[in-house]
Amino acid sequence: MFAATRAASFAAKRSFSTSAANLSKVAVLGAAGGIGQPLSLLLKENPHVSHLALYDIVNTPGVAADLSHINTNSKVTGHTAANDGLKAALEDAHVVVIPAGVPRKPGMTRDDLFNTNASIVQTLAQAAAKHCPKAHILIISNPVNSTVPIFAEVLKKAGVFDPKRLYGVTTLDVVRASRFVSEIKNKDPKDVKITVVGGHSGVTIVPLLSQSGFEFTKEELDALTHRIQFGGDEVVQAKDGAGSATLSMAFAGARFANSVLEATVGGKKGVIEPSFVKSDLYADQGIEYFSSNVELGPNGVEKIHGLGEISDYEKDLVQKCLVDLKKNIAKGESFGQ
Ligand code: NAI
Repeated sequence: MFAATRAASFAAKRSFSTSAANLSKVAVLGAAGGIGQPLSLLLKENPHVSHLALYDIVNTPGVAADLSHINTNSKVTGHTAANDGLKAALEDAHVVVIPAGVPRKPGMTRDDLFNTNASIVQTLAQAAAKHCPKAHILIISNPVNSTVPIFAEVLKKAGVFDPKRLYGVTTLDVVRASRFVSEIKNKDPKDVKITVVGGHSGVTIVPLLSQSGFEFTKEELDALTHRIQFGGDEVVQAKDGAGSATLSMAFAGARFANSVLEATVGGKKGVIEPSFVKSDLYADQGIEYFSSNVELGPNGVEKIHGLGEISDYEKDLVQKCLVDLKKNIAKGESFGQ
């Protein structure tokens, strides 16, 4: 009896949320991979998604068939390179999420992935420029500090670059920061919001712990900063050659995609997420892209937040970040041009 009532109320809620939502097509490129599969699963649950188009060079028919049995309202299609599959996946897409490319193995930096992933991202950018020039593009493929500039250069060449719609996904850094701080402060992570700025690799990741509302000793600060900057390495080492973060990344990617959907089609106001975007914050130092908190609106990036007041410790971290970031961005831009 109780179960039936609960089920009925759940069904009512779901049908309400589905009918109230504005629906849209989301394409995932690299959908059969370690991130792509759980990310697609989480997107299958998202009430804003009407059509989930899964593209990969392998295995998408199976992943799509599997997900298509889940009884949420979205339709699922699977595409490979055969029969112009990339075009079919991208046409009419409102959001495109890209976790395509190789992940790290122990001992590798994200920059070591450049040679392989740069050309994958370039190819996908050329297709997006042609088939969905107005879509919101979410880049997960590493090195994000370079793949976002590559994507931008390809879109610029095609005359369709809109800086409000291109996002490097750095959400995992804030997810990790929140978790790591909550562990040492014994708090529920949902109440622990940590701003992380800069880029998405090693010293370019700059947590602003002075703004967290918590006090830290110098030892805690050093240890936490290092853990947030190099947290990805813990997963790479633990997986011992089998890849990098996939499940936590899928969680983070689904959160960011949901925020973009809520702001662009869901009519939600005041949606703020960190993202690596074209930004004026350090443009006077020749750094055209930077991750900071970004307010999202109906057309994508609406307002880029500055860093606010930061400590001397963090000023130092930002200076170190900018040195690497400048090189990473230049490398991406020259590849994409
Ligand atoms: P994976 O190897 O498990 O999956 C990658 C998928 O991309 C594979 O299914 C592969 O077939 C596909 N792929 C390769 N070339 C393609 C192409 N031209 N078109 C479409 N699909 C293609 O790798 P995983 O673990 O899913 O990682 C994917 C990327 O995400 C890596 O570059 C990794 O470094 C990055 N990553 C980014 C994070 C972030 O915070 N932004 C966090 C973790 C990983």
